[in-house]
Amino acid sequence: MKITAYEVRPDEEPVIRNLCDKYGIDVVITRANLDENTVNLAEGSDGITTLGQSTYSNEVLDELKKMGVQVLASRCVGYNHMNVEYARELGFKLCNGSYAPNGVAEYSVMAILMCMRHQKKALYNTNDNDFTLKGKMGRELRSLTVGILGAGKIGKTVIKILSGFGCKILAYDVVQDDEVKEYATYVDMDTIYKECDVITIHMPLLPATTGMINKDAISKMKDGVIIINNARGELLDVDAIIEGVESEKIGALFCDAFPGETGIIHIPHNTDIIRTEGMPYFKLKYLRSFVNVYHTPHMAFFTEEAAASMAACGVDSIYEIMTEGKSSHEIPC
Ligand code: COI
Repeated sequence: MKITAYEVRPDEEPVIRNLCDKYGIDVVITRANLDENTVNLAEGSDGITTLGQSTYSNEVLDELKKMGVQVLASRCVGYNHMNVEYARELGFKLCNGSYAPNGVAEYSVMAILMCMRHQKKALYNTNDNDFTLKGKMGRELRSLTVGILGAGKIGKTVIKILSGFGCKILAYDVVQDDEVKEYATYVDMDTIYKECDVITIHMPLLPATTGMINKDAISKMKDGVIIINNARGELLDVDAIIEGVESEKIGALFCDAFPGETGIIHIPHNTDIIRTEGMPYFKLKYLRSFVNVYHTPHMAFFTEEAAASMAACGVDSIYEIMTEGKSSHEIPC
């Protein structure tokens, strides 16, 4: 068996190599993204694995098909970048990463606390020898209502952690889970918008969720609402968000992802002109200039525990399908 592993970070390489040695798999490892220029590296492979920056264009998929590749295994949970419909048409088996949700969940709780306690202002001011308390009065979670949009694995873990803080927790999801009900009350989205002081989003990016935090949704929210988006940038309508921050309807915003970030994040761009797909980059620069807007480089997942299990997942998915015909990591139809 042979696999090609794209987008391999240095921390992932030993995990992938060790697992391939254990299973007797030949492996090609590259830091490069999968795209039209690098697809040839998959020649002779049964499966390929990538993270979230690769291009699964029709041309790339056609090429992989011609080479005899059978399994496409993302090491990320999100698979919105995988051109799923066309890949399925061509008969590929598709898998995604399934790592423990704790890293992203803990990061989201950190984001909530950072926003509530004005940490951007505190850190910037202190660095500048401004030791005042001006604009730094915080709130305590026990007095607040937190809304969880998307109570799947990550959302549910956020809920469990938050339950220790004594806040009221409301949750929205299309499927309901008994464990979530122990700590949170399921409501519809409008109730989340109307009643929550903090809203944290843990939804997948789908046609139905693209731009869901738009002008209409924001208008239903409480004044001064804190919005956390550590899922996918495209869930936000950036123009509506800018309007919300300018008008102070939004009290704070924390984003670990921004629209059009694919191909940009996790790479130094200090001297580059950045062009984001579909959204002018200056809008993000503008948003970032506000002291109550936090932007981090899509790193919520990045813990020793999660990174190792993502890397293993890429190899396991291909190995399981090639040896057993199925994998627990397959993307459901
Ligand atoms: C995911 O697993 O879906 C992530 O967001 C992390 C990835 C971009 C490395």
